[in-house]
Amino acid sequence: MEPQTPTSRRVLVAKPRGYCAGVDRAVVAVEKALEQYGAPIYVRKQIVHNTHVVKTLEARGAIFVDETDEVPEGEIVVFSAHGVSPAVHDEAEQRGLRTIDATCPLVTKVHNEAKRFANQDYDILLIGHEGHEEVEGTSGEAPAHIQLVDGLDAVGDVRVKDPSKLVWLSQTTLSVDETTETVARLKERFPTLIDPPSDDICYATQNRQVAVKEIAAEAQLVIVVGSENSSNSKRLVEVAKDHGADAAYLVDNAGFIRDEWLDGVTTVGVTSGASVPEELVDQVLARLAEHGFGDVTEVESVQESMRFALPHELRKDLRVS
Ligand code: F3S
Repeated sequence: MEPQTPTSRRVLVAKPRGYCAGVDRAVVAVEKALEQYGAPIYVRKQIVHNTHVVKTLEARGAIFVDETDEVPEGEIVVFSAHGVSPAVHDEAEQRGLRTIDATCPLVTKVHNEAKRFANQDYDILLIGHEGHEEVEGTSGEAPAHIQLVDGLDAVGDVRVKDPSKLVWLSQTTLSVDETTETVARLKERFPTLIDPPSDDICYATQNRQVAVKEIAAEAQLVIVVGSENSSNSKRLVEVAKDHGADAAYLVDNAGFIRDEWLDGVTTVGVTSGASVPEELVDQVLARLAEHGFGDVTEVESVQESMRFALPHELRKDLRVS
């Protein structure tokens, strides 16, 4: 029997969604570097965790590498929005590379907190995902002082030398609710644990989670546009499931949507991670419209106005051009 198609089908689109100020700055930095200095421009790691963005920049002459030793001496290398450890800066300098640091200023803020607490001989519990580039970069600021706590299950393994000098910091793109739980569990073990001076989970991550909660409460299905290696996008899927959606899926683009997901669904929620260009959301909406989801409403929960200046190495040269 053919699945029943509901007569009234609508889409709720979360706002804010998509590009944050740090991603916008990093992508524009590579574009401007290509314009200013010409191709190739080397980029260490994916500039932002989005397949489409990386492919688009590659087509314009960016070359993505895993490590700086793959960059020919004297060439320009851009460091990604996720940040790098001091060792990576040193390596680049030793190889005579010209660097443009597109680390998001909100990641740099966490690096600075780590350095400051390490200088005061604190043990630092860094809540984050093992292997994520941002965590590797932050940990590299003070490896002897920083211990990774990868989720609730890792709390029992934490060992500290002096509980009276203990602070937690976090990756910028975590689930707010899950991090709150992890911190509560850590404080049960270490009541003297102190909080970071300000939120490490960035405004964009927080706002996109608030926005997806709002649409998930009314949608049976939530589609999150984002790449598999995008931490903040994956968190949006989890938050949607935890806040009312029967199902939530991460899709790199509209081609990943399966028709059967839409069977019996009347309301679809759509959002996108902080590294996702809006054209990919437009393509998802077009695909949904083909299935009768033509009634599209944007649900705005928070207004955003954050902007960051381009990396200073680039600004300096752009001024004289
Ligand atoms: Fe920065 Fe947050 Fe975006 S840390 S890169 S503003 S997701």
